[in-house]
Amino acid sequence: MKKILELLTEEMEKAFCEAGVDKKHAKVSVSNRPDLCQFQCNGAMACAKEYKKAPVMIAEAVAETLKASEVFEKAEAVKPGFINLNVKDSFLRAYLEGMTKEEKFGLQMPEKPETILVDYGGPNVAKPLHIGHLRAAIIGESVKRIGAYAGHKMMGDIHMGDWGLQMGLIIALMKDKGLGLPTISELEQIYPEASARSKEDEEFKKLAMDITYELQHGNKEYLDIWKHIMKISVEDLKKNYEKLNVSFEIWKGESDADPYIAPMVEKLKDKGFAYESQGALVVDVTEETDTKEVPPCMILKSDGAALYTTTDLATLVQRQEDYKPAWVIYVVDKRQELHFKQVFRCAKKTGIVPEETKLSFLGFGTMNGADGKPFKTRSGGVMRLESLLSEVYERCYERMCENGADMPEEERKDTASKIALAAIKYGDLSNQASKDYVFDIEKFTSFEGNTGPYILYTIVRIKSIMRKYEETGGDLEGIRLLECKGEAERELSLLLTGYNAMMEGAFNETAPHRVCAYIYEVSNAFNHFYHETKILTEEDEEKKRSYIALLSLTKGILESCIGVLGFAAPERM
Ligand code: ARG
Repeated sequence: MKKILELLTEEMEKAFCEAGVDKKHAKVSVSNRPDLCQFQCNGAMACAKEYKKAPVMIAEAVAETLKASEVFEKAEAVKPGFINLNVKDSFLRAYLEGMTKEEKFGLQMPEKPETILVDYGGPNVAKPLHIGHLRAAIIGESVKRIGAYAGHKMMGDIHMGDWGLQMGLIIALMKDKGLGLPTISELEQIYPEASARSKEDEEFKKLAMDITYELQHGNKEYLDIWKHIMKISVEDLKKNYEKLNVSFEIWKGESDADPYIAPMVEKLKDKGFAYESQGALVVDVTEETDTKEVPPCMILKSDGAALYTTTDLATLVQRQEDYKPAWVIYVVDKRQELHFKQVFRCAKKTGIVPEETKLSFLGFGTMNGADGKPFKTRSGGVMRLESLLSEVYERCYERMCENGADMPEEERKDTASKIALAAIKYGDLSNQASKDYVFDIEKFTSFEGNTGPYILYTIVRIKSIMRKYEETGGDLEGIRLLECKGEAERELSLLLTGYNAMMEGAFNETAPHRVCAYIYEVSNAFNHFYHETKILTEEDEEKKRSYIALLSLTKGILESCIGVLGFAAPERM
């Protein structure tokens, strides 16, 4: 289905032609003065010079031809040369009806779906998940869902940190203390102890490094321990991500890139891309237009060890072999921007990925506490993801009780966890990813304001009206939209028509915050409409059915939006 702005622009193009003006100036946009009009066209301003006429004269000529338009109710030329536009309610009704009949409310599907890989999560095995991983998971999952909804073949890769020194540290401590294969909770104790020890005990550190080296070079004993650690860690990670409603199609890690490293390095050397510099192997990645220095990409350290860059490049080799993605999106802390710049340039320059493959870095900012510093526990430690989740859950549960939510205990618990997830995810996603934000439990869990619970509350309100409608004999089959009668209804309707454009934009710009901003506006418009309108007590049956049809469309749109954000609404709250 065409976007409403496309249809309006087409209508405007006809008017421009009729007025003898080049139609390339006929672009219609949403009004930035909603108090004056719904849409606007500024084209007359741009072409005044070309036609040697005052812009307002051109605007008037165009507006004149729109008097008989089936689309525009009002087309008004105003100084210095804008055309203010309102659409006819009949046009609005027809567009909305089109949306109700189309799949995905008229979001256009791509002619050729693309394979897109999202690299997000990036947990480090054997270290507990902490809130640093929360943003990657929340944003990445949403980016992936938006892409899938927009009709592409999306794959999420968790890309675990599973091949580094932390593995050597753990095995070193196990050997030193003569420990058997650990359970997950034992493992969680081992890592901090090993890490602390390596900071004061040089010999121990050397042992850990040696073990890491041998592990990476096929030592059978260490590989067996590593496999065990991986097995229990992956189980635990799956459980944790499940709580966040996050899942991955690909469970690979840095270790999986290992077999690709040696052949890749050989090729880079053979083709003359890689050269030795102070003992290390590097590839130049500077570009003429650089204003800041981009250091060479280091492929191997002087002792021959691979680096973070190396695994990321080798992973691209593997992804190219296995999936040939058209686009790879990395959702990682923005402090890693330079690393990815080097990796992307090197991959393109050396032909690891073809020129046309899109590589994007979606860097996110830090989640801060009320003090503006990275979020910590009350005692100042690193907050574990599980603790954060349960803290938010408790607060949501409390709020439900304060609100007198009357329901069986089991439902109350389930609802509280749904609200908690919405609070956390919306609190994060409503900010542009690259920005830091303050995690404010009180604010995020509030049922009012720009919050996840407020959106859920709106959906629940609609569900409840629709339930009552059905309980009192109303039939959802028979609902049909009529032309708008009131201002609040019109405002809501107009917002709903922007759905496909919004979703397309959110996909193209990998911007879940656009979905949040949209549903906040829709929720406000809906609640305004709700307060202005007698819905269930409306005596005119046809009118009542039309309201229900509008509610049903609003609900469908809100639900599909929270679906791509990665949370769901309860039945009541
Ligand atoms: N494990 C890394 C970290 O904790 C994040 C991995 C991001 N993804 C990547 N392809 N490098 O910092």
